[in-house]
Amino acid sequence: MTQAELLEVAREVRNHAYAPYSHFAVGAALLTSDGRVFAGTNVENISYSLTICAERVATGAAVSAGAHDFELLALVSDSAQPVVPCGACRQVLAEFAPELRIVSSNISGATAEFRLDHLLPTAKQGILG
Ligand code: THU
Repeated sequence: MTQAELLEVAREVRNHAYAPYSHFAVGAALLTSDGRVFAGTNVENISYSLTICAERVATGAAVSAGAHDFELLALVSDSAQPVVPCGACRQVLAEFAPELRIVSSNISGATAEFRLDHLLPTAKQGILG
């Protein structure tokens, strides 16, 4: 699976985003080392604070299928700048792949690449020992 194909999965799943409050739809697709792909969208809630980001929904789908070895995360959003995972999602992703590669694209095709350990250094340092 190429980076472009993974972005296409994220673009597709984004159509299912449940974002009636922010109207900001996000699609995420996680590629695992054995070639499986797990997708997720943001799932908003009327309480606002219970909203789950697309990245964490994709993570939950992967872990629920027994997949922990994440290789690449693709994100698609409709924003001027490609979206960058929030702090909570960075910490959750770092549980499984502290050096995860992330590619993020907006719907006009502007693309940015990140690495999780650059976005969240010392993700586990000093926690539980
Ligand atoms: N959101 C994501 O799903 N992923 C991100 O990386 C940024 C933000 C969602 C959460 C909320 O539903 C909406 O976008 C606005 O913040």
